[in-house]
Amino acid sequence: MGFISDALNRIQPSATIAATQKARDLKALGRDVISLAAGEPDFDTPDNIKEAAIKAIREGKTKYTAVDGIPELKAAICAKFKRENNLDYGPQQAFVAPGGKPIIFNAMVATLNPGDEVIIPAPYWVSYPDIVLLAGGKPVPVETTLEDGFKLQPEALEKAITEKTKWLIFNSPSNPSGAAYSHDELKKLTDVLMKHPHVWILTDDMYEHLTYDGFKFATPAEVEPGLYERTLTMNGVSKAYAMTGWRIGYCAGPEPLIKAMTKVQSQSTSNPTSISQYAAVEALNGPQDFIPERAEVFKERRDLVVSMLNQASGLKCPTPEGAFYVYPSCAGCIGKQTTDGKVIETDEDFAMALIEAEGISVVHGAAFGLSPFFRISYATSTEELTDACERIQRFCASLR
Ligand SMILES: Cc1ncc(COP(=O)(O)O)c(C=O)c1O
Repeated sequence: MGFISDALNRIQPSATIAATQKARDLKALGRDVISLAAGEPDFDTPDNIKEAAIKAIREGKTKYTAVDGIPELKAAICAKFKRENNLDYGPQQAFVAPGGKPIIFNAMVATLNPGDEVIIPAPYWVSYPDIVLLAGGKPVPVETTLEDGFKLQPEALEKAITEKTKWLIFNSPSNPSGAAYSHDELKKLTDVLMKHPHVWILTDDMYEHLTYDGFKFATPAEVEPGLYERTLTMNGVSKAYAMTGWRIGYCAGPEPLIKAMTKVQSQSTSNPTSISQYAAVEALNGPQDFIPERAEVFKERRDLVVSMLNQASGLKCPTPEGAFYVYPSCAGCIGKQTTDGKVIETDEDFAMALIEAEGISVVHGAAFGLSPFFRISYATSTEELTDACERIQRFCASLR
């Protein structure tokens, strides 16, 4: 296909979106399907945030804004970083984009040259390597293990760094594993990074507010102020405020990088939607008390899912610290046969056989760079989760 660019041919369509779509298609055909593939909270956007958007529309705040965000939102972002992360940023260091994903995209397009390497701990969020590839860089996945709680180890980080390394993309709590790094675990990694001044850190803190059992969130520039000058701290309203459809992500970092990202955005999307920006101001400045309440609901669901999956034969599911995902191993099912005689050779075979047999949609681990595992999103009702986990148990018990 000569017409399509080499850059596009290097990447895959998002496997999580594909799995969600397959579940939708089967549902449309009348199948009884439960999708555990989607990466969004099942809660609604709080009313005060919706009202702020309606007010913005009524007041005619419906025109182009500054490419990198309205001053009110930048001020709210700086206040958030100070209040919650003890990080000092001025408005010229803050940047708003149409979602968290474009923040990563803008940062990579703004900085990568051919051959530049980007270290990505695996399992990783599906978009990281593909964004790096699209931007002309080279993703360098570094595998973690279930035994280490899917957390990057300092020795593995040290080994992966070369003179071509430009970035480490760091994500805690993690999509897809739910793993979150404590202050001390993070300090061991930042100690390694301090030895390599040419390596920058993009920290994706999207799931900051979704941690459980009293876990205390920490972010690299807070843990090691010596990294402040080469850290891009990224976050967004999508997950914490149940605003995935509003498309607002934000970050703060060194001014020259922010300027470069603004240049990219000025020639691509331009400003994020004006109305969503006003809604995001209310999200960051308004009441925050619903966040821990929702986190408590997620924690109960996590405990339910972990317990039920560990009762399924052939599965092993660790208890993650955060996000709304679990990442169980299906190693014990590999090599077995389904009732209609198909041999399960990979985690993709497992996911495919599971949706065919029981109508449960999950995403296979290969999509996240670590097999044989699969990802379950527990951002759905307790009733559906119980039903889904019973079906998974039945499916695993049926394998021979
Ligand atoms: C780890 C992580 N980072 C970033 C994003 C992107 O968020 P947004 O929807 O704001 O683009 C997601 C969404 O699934 C995510 O899981």
